Parts: sequence; structure tokens; C-alpha cells
Amino acid sequence: MSATRTVTSVLDGRPVKGAPGGTLTIPNPALLDQTVAEASLGDAGTFLEACHRAKAAQPGWAAVPAPVRGRAIQHLGRLVEQNFDALSHLITREIGKPIKESRGEVQEVVDTCNFFLGEGRRLYGQTVPSEMPDKQLFTFRRPLGAAAIVTAGNFPVAVPSWYIVPALVCGNTIVWKPAEYTPTTADALAQLILHSGIPMGVFQLVLAEGSSTFQGIERALDEEVLDKVGFTGSSEVGRRIGELCGRHLQSPCLELGGKNPLVVMPDADLDLAVEGALFSGFGTAGQRCTSLGTAIVHRDVHDDFMARFSKAVTDAPVGDPTQDVLYGPMISARFCERFEHWLELIRSHHTVSGSDGIGRITKANPRTGFVGDPGAGLYYHPVIVDGITLDDDLYRTETFGPIVGVASFDTFDQAIELANAHGYGLSSSIYTNDPLSVFHFRDRISAGMVSVNNSTSGAEAHLPFGGNGRSGNGSRQSGLWVLDQFTRWQAMNWDYSGHLQKAQMDTAELHADPGFRLAD
Ligand code: UN1
Repeated sequence: MSATRTVTSVLDGRPVKGAPGGTLTIPNPALLDQTVAEASLGDAGTFLEACHRAKAAQPGWAAVPAPVRGRAIQHLGRLVEQNFDALSHLITREIGKPIKESRGEVQEVVDTCNFFLGEGRRLYGQTVPSEMPDKQLFTFRRPLGAAAIVTAGNFPVAVPSWYIVPALVCGNTIVWKPAEYTPTTADALAQLILHSGIPMGVFQLVLAEGSSTFQGIERALDEEVLDKVGFTGSSEVGRRIGELCGRHLQSPCLELGGKNPLVVMPDADLDLAVEGALFSGFGTAGQRCTSLGTAIVHRDVHDDFMARFSKAVTDAPVGDPTQDVLYGPMISARFCERFEHWLELIRSHHTVSGSDGIGRITKANPRTGFVGDPGAGLYYHPVIVDGITLDDDLYRTETFGPIVGVASFDTFDQAIELANAHGYGLSSSIYTNDPLSVFHFRDRISAGMVSVNNSTSGAEAHLPFGGNGRSGNGSRQSGLWVLDQFTRWQAMNWDYSGHLQKAQMDTAELHADPGFRLAD
């Protein structure tokens, strides 16, 4: 598993020759002197070609009975289980995710397949009564066509599966454009999908940079060979994709950023809240879209919470992701540059804690208890920034990395304002044992997902996943809810009366007696 691989786009099951979009060398972010893969990238033309092929294959795939399509998903889930270790280790090598989390991510793919394999035998429509006799109404789910799925690299297999699995079972075909920095994991998942029994053309893999992909989407929409875009990534790019698709009267499935709040009420179990803040703030090195942004702590328990949280972060093992650590390296060098920029948003009124230093962990800027050799990879100190206020840039900026803000509040209204005012609305959490606080929070939080006495991250694979405001356009993934992203409702009525019955006009009337009164 450790040799350097060469990976390319895969069209109709065959690796594409050449690299019109250039080549990329992918290092192991935990061991920078190890190369994981050389990737040959396609360009907008490759993407367009993939869309043409997927579009051509779609009617054939839609004609396969849905229960049979579900069998492909069953085969895929089993293949992922049979290749569990190889896939988990590859994720850890390519993006430095701690091995336990990588295994959890692979499990999420299996869970998604397990949920949707039976959907092939459901995909229920409805029979609906008509207002006329001898007439029946029905609804059917219809696939959309060819779907482009563009995903980030922090969850290089789980999040793609959230789109690809339901889209396939619904009868759509796929062009998948994974993150440029996870081509090896993408190739591995693509190979498993291609071995699941799906016909040629149903699934296409395109390795490309973001700008070529955007151009490819634009051309594919113009040429009417693309019917749906699913995108997980930044709010900025999501907005551009939304505009582009909107011009073609399409509504993309957008899963964007978050600045996820964790509110600690005065009656909270503080150790539990600290455990949740530690995992959601620093697990995956803070590189989840569900990562904790700001802990919003009642003033009465603020000092106690801070003391426990700072100690927990200071003591947490950081380092080699093949070991039992809280987090490993940043996913890739591009994430480091952005993270260093966000560290510049820390101001003099803030109090920083959580480690011996700030920035990159090196021999000269060490962290006590570091697991392994910090110089070997892209490791960063965890940072807690206390004293966050509504006016701070840090308050409203999604900081993809190991940094957590802490703000305090006196009234519940202030807590809600702090939890919502940044405009994101993906995930959220409240720690309390008071049911009134729970239901008031659920009612007033703008987020699409709410945890009670649990961290902001770690959603289960069969509940609706998605956000509002800067976090998305209201689309939801996972569970039954994602079916509405990959099918369109068709309404049918069948009149077997033998004559034209006009709706609203030829309906029978019942004559009530509105003047009737009970006797006194
Ligand atoms: C993401 O970061 O895009 O809920 C998805 C969670 C994971 C998925 C995160 N199951 O944290």
C-alpha cells in the first residue's frame, strides 16, 4: 500500500491518457518526504466529455428496474467492507486523518449503502384520491439525468457517497470530481464503484482543478448534458455554482461552510461540554464543515469551563495519525496557508491557550507530548481564543483548522444572537439539562442540525444533513430527504369514466344546512 501510484480520470471505466490540466504530486501530509500519488489532471474538455458520456448512459440506467439498481448499491457496500482496511489506511496516508476517524468515515460509506440498497425496492410514489369518480391520481419519482458531484477532500469517501449512492439508486448517472488533493482515495472509491455491477458509462471520474471544473460545468449546462450539480465546499464557490445553475433553471444541492456554535448553559455538565468541544473543535484538526467554531459559554461557568477546556486541549495527544491521537496534520499545504492567515485574525483583546505555542509545530516551536516527529509533517498547534465578540473577524470567519473561539453571555437572547449572527447555519449544539432551554434553542437557532448534550460534528448517515444561510440553499442530503435532490415528482391522473370530467367544475357538491341550530 505504500508505493507511489499514478492516478488519472476514468471515463467509461478506462484511465484517460495525458494530462491536459497538468500534473500534481500528492505527498503524505504526515510524512512529507513520502509521495502518495502522481495525479494527471483533466481540463474543462475532459469534464464535458464525461458529462456527454454520462448523459448518453442515463436512459439505459434509468430503464434498469430500481430494485436491480439497489443491488449495485448492495454490492458496493460489500466491496467497501471487504476493502475496509485498505481504504481507511489510504485516507490516513493521503490526508492525515487519524486512523480511527478514517475507519469511521469508511463505515459511513457502508452505512449509506446499507440505507439506500433497500430504497431500490421502495422509491415510493403515492396513490391519491381524485375529486371525481372513476378517476385516480398517482405520483412517481423520476430521475433527473446526469449529475455532477464536486466534493471536498476532508471526507474523501463519506461525503461523496452521500451524493453518489442515492443518485445512482434513483436512476441518475454520475460525473464525480473529487478534491484535487485526494486523487488516490478518489481513484480507490471509483474502482469499487466500477466493480459494483453498474453498466459502462453510468459512473465517470474526472480529476481536475476547480477552475477547469467550473468551466466544464458551464459548458455542460450550455450543451444540456448536465441535469444536476451536487457541491460540497466553500460558501463563495457554492454561491457561484448556485448562480450558474440558476441561469439554467436548475437548483444545485449545496453543502457549504459552517461557523458552528456550541452553547454552554449554566446548568450544563461541564466535563461533558468540554469533551464535546474538544472533539468537535479539534477532531480532524478542525477541518470538518461541522467543526466547532465558537463555544458560547454562560458567564457564571465561563472561568470553570475555560480552565477545564484549556487543560483538555493542552493535554490532548497531537501527531502521527497512525497512532491514537486527537488530530494529525493539516490535509494539505493549501490548508496551512489559509490557516496561518486566519491566525492573524487574533487580536490583543483575546486570550490564547491550548498549547505551548501558536502556528506550525516544529522543533523550534514544540508542543509538549507531541506524538512522532513534528518536522515530518504539516502539524499545527491547537488554539483556543477566548474573548470573542460579535465584532471580531474571527467571530464571522469559517476557520478550517485547529482553532476554537470562546465567547461569553449573560442572557439567553445574547447566546442566540452569538449563535446566529455570523449568517452560517449548518450545525449547532447546546449543553443543558433544562428542557425549556433545549426547545427554545431548537426553535430559534438558524442551523439545519441541532445537537443536545452532544458535539457539533458526527452526524449519523440517515438524518437530513445540510444548512441554511451561508451554509447552503436549503438542500438536504442523507436519509429519505436526499431523494428529493435526485428525483423529480411526476403527477399522473387517470380518468376511466369514459367522459371528460372537469376538475373544480364537475365535482359533486354536498349541501350542508348552515342554518341548523341545536334546540336549547
Ligand atoms: C463535512 O465535513 O463535510 O457530521 C461532513 C460529521 C461527519 C460529516 C462531516 N459525519 O461531522
